[in-house]
Amino acid sequence: MVGVNKRQVRVGMIGYKFMGKAHSNGYRNLPYFFDTPAVPVLQAIAGRDEQGVKAAAETMGWASYETDWRRLLERDDIDVIDIVTPNNVHAEMAIAAAEAGKHVLCEKPLAMTVEQAKRMVDAVKKAGVVHMICHNYRFAPAVQFAKKLIEEGRLGKIYHIRAQYLQDWIMDPKFPLVWRLRKEVTGSGAHGDIAAHILDLARFLVGEFSEVVGMMETFIKERPLGEMTGGLNASANSGKMGQVDVDDCSAFLARFENGAVGVFEATRFAAGNRNGNRFEINGEKGSIRWDLENMNNLQVYLTDDEPGLQGFRTINCTEEHHPYAGAYWPAGHIIGYEHTFINLMKEFMEGIVNGTSPAPNFEDGYRNQLVLASVEKSVETGSWVKISEVDPS
Ligand SMILES: NC(=O)c1ccc[n+]([C@@H]2O[C@H](COP(=O)([O-])OP(=O)(O)OC[C@H]3O[C@@H](n4cnc5c(N)ncnc54)[C@H](O)[C@@H]3O)[C@@H](O)[C@H]2O)c1
Repeated sequence: MVGVNKRQVRVGMIGYKFMGKAHSNGYRNLPYFFDTPAVPVLQAIAGRDEQGVKAAAETMGWASYETDWRRLLERDDIDVIDIVTPNNVHAEMAIAAAEAGKHVLCEKPLAMTVEQAKRMVDAVKKAGVVHMICHNYRFAPAVQFAKKLIEEGRLGKIYHIRAQYLQDWIMDPKFPLVWRLRKEVTGSGAHGDIAAHILDLARFLVGEFSEVVGMMETFIKERPLGEMTGGLNASANSGKMGQVDVDDCSAFLARFENGAVGVFEATRFAAGNRNGNRFEINGEKGSIRWDLENMNNLQVYLTDDEPGLQGFRTINCTEEHHPYAGAYWPAGHIIGYEHTFINLMKEFMEGIVNGTSPAPNFEDGYRNQLVLASVEKSVETGSWVKISEVDPS
């Protein structure tokens, strides 16, 4: 049995649909690829519907289930609470988990508001538990390699980042009013859901934001009521209609503390773009480009290449020289979306053993929330907003 003599980290996961499946797969496969000092044990999942949670436990390989998530906190045989529920319950669950002395992995966005995010950071710090937020795209080997190139100074001073997260899954006006389109459950629309990811990549690769100015739009304002059914699928549950009260798209300009500038766009109305999470970064000595839909590759241009041979080169980041890639297959044998979660969980397990909270942790989630909130404030006021204006700390 894999990892039988290692420290066992017993996970209790709340929620079991799209991210539940991604996280379960991550925990299951981590010991198969990485020799970490601790291995996750799929101890229990929690959900409100007994039939659903029982079936999910069986399918995804969890040892037990609960129908009330608070039961997970009472159990002595749970070390970690993993939160894969909608955004409106992240704060309550994470704070209760920390108070119960459990380490916490929470899906993004960390919270609905800056105030909630602040309380979450305070709670994990006070309890001294290890915490991470699941910005998994940082853990694509090509993104990690981009970070390495930037840190080595290969691009020199960074001037620009332009990042887009383009989807098209709600373009049909008959697509139901699911939780991701209801402000009271999700907080914001494309903004908190997918702009949060490119914002995290920008913080990771470029640095801290200093000010932003943004705009948002809701194209379809009324939809039939309905529920998510797994992945990004949904079904309408009655003939009734409801109001969409979140953004369908968000776009903003940004300045960074180090002088770089950024252009960001997040939308669920970019026809033909299923999951187009992309960025380009331009520095004084070169540029890099990445696109999730071709996630193993990094495009790199270096100005000191020989004249006549200059141009973007494509690096397939599957060699042992590329972070995490050596744990998988021989060079050129590509990996996928699910491996970003495995790589993140490797860091999480090592963090638990070392007593440190690897980035991105709740502090990163908080900083991310500050930028999200600053853009929202800018949309309300129609002017630039400094990140420090929305930061109570
Ligand atoms: N990292 C990523 O790439 C990524 C991708 C998708 C979603 N997410 C995030 O993951 C979280 C979950 O999204 P999802 O796509 O898995 O949603 P989903 O609708 O597929 O699943 C949500 C799960 O939470 C459960 N749930 C809802 N309210 C609950 C409550 N009050 N108590 C207990 N369980 C409850 C549901 O029954 C379901 O099992 C969200 O915060 C979302 O933003 C992250």
